[in-house]
Amino acid sequence: MTNKVTKAIFPVAGLGTRFLPATKSIPKEIMTLVDRPLIQYAIDEARAAGIEEFIFVTSRGKGSLEDYFDRAPTLEEDLKAKNKDKLLDVLNGTNMESGAIAYIRQHQALGLGHAIWCARRLIGDEPFAVILTDDLIASETPCLQQMVEAYEQTGGSMVAAMEVPADKVSAYGVLDVESEDGRILKVKGMVEKPAAGTEPSNLAVIGRYILTPDVLRNLENFKKGAGGEIQLTDAIADEIAQGRDVYGFCFEGERFDCGSKAGYLQATVSFGLEREELRDELMAHLEQIVAMKRAAE
Ligand code: UTP
Repeated sequence: MTNKVTKAIFPVAGLGTRFLPATKSIPKEIMTLVDRPLIQYAIDEARAAGIEEFIFVTSRGKGSLEDYFDRAPTLEEDLKAKNKDKLLDVLNGTNMESGAIAYIRQHQALGLGHAIWCARRLIGDEPFAVILTDDLIASETPCLQQMVEAYEQTGGSMVAAMEVPADKVSAYGVLDVESEDGRILKVKGMVEKPAAGTEPSNLAVIGRYILTPDVLRNLENFKKGAGGEIQLTDAIADEIAQGRDVYGFCFEGERFDCGSKAGYLQATVSFGLEREELRDELMAHLEQIVAMKRAAE
């Protein structure tokens, strides 16, 4: 088995209920941070980590997501004719190599683990990455690239990990850590959404994974876990039970939970403030409205 990670799965078949009514017709992965859809950030991160094959697990109603990766010849011609080179560069940056993207359908939203299992035939017998577009990570070195570099030393399966506040930890997959070596944690157990008070640590699994094909085999038993869903965390925990190595990786960077409204708004403001052309105006507006809100309290 090769150790090089060249394939990534992007599970985008969830219902996105926390963003209703918007997600009635817009996939949440197409929602924009400033001017780029969330999926574009995930694709760019994957590319930076050396990913060459991009596998989307989609579902009914995600057509606009598939369209996003088509070329837009009329738009390109128009921008060319008007010498709008900068915009043309922006557009060209979204082009994907022919054949680099594959779409697989998850016919029923049975859980993240099931969505990953749906892509099994495209993965074959190779390690693969998983990126959840909801988890946006702003960092100097893109998070998946950090993980690929760490994985070259460890092998096994690896999940991104982050400390979260005690009152939030039971909303996540949580790690039971055996030992630490810098950013790399050797994991002896993992539990999805543990009941409050039973969490093995406050180290939560964040949406970046490098997994071995054994995890796909573990998913074959369709075991239902937390919330009645087929959980990816459980299939990775089975790896530990079967004597294989699983690691957590404490990435460098700031993570935004764009699957929640508060996280999405925070990311929008933070990414807006990073843009030179927006910074001053946005900052002045934020200062003004915060001062007004404070005065009114
Ligand atoms: P979430 O737990 O955020 O669920 O899924 P969701 O449906 O996207 O959103 P809410 O909670 O209803 O608002 C985490 C990731 O797993 C994918 C989602 O698309 C998201 O990227 N997923 C989840 C699937 O692809 N299939 C599933 O059956 C469940």
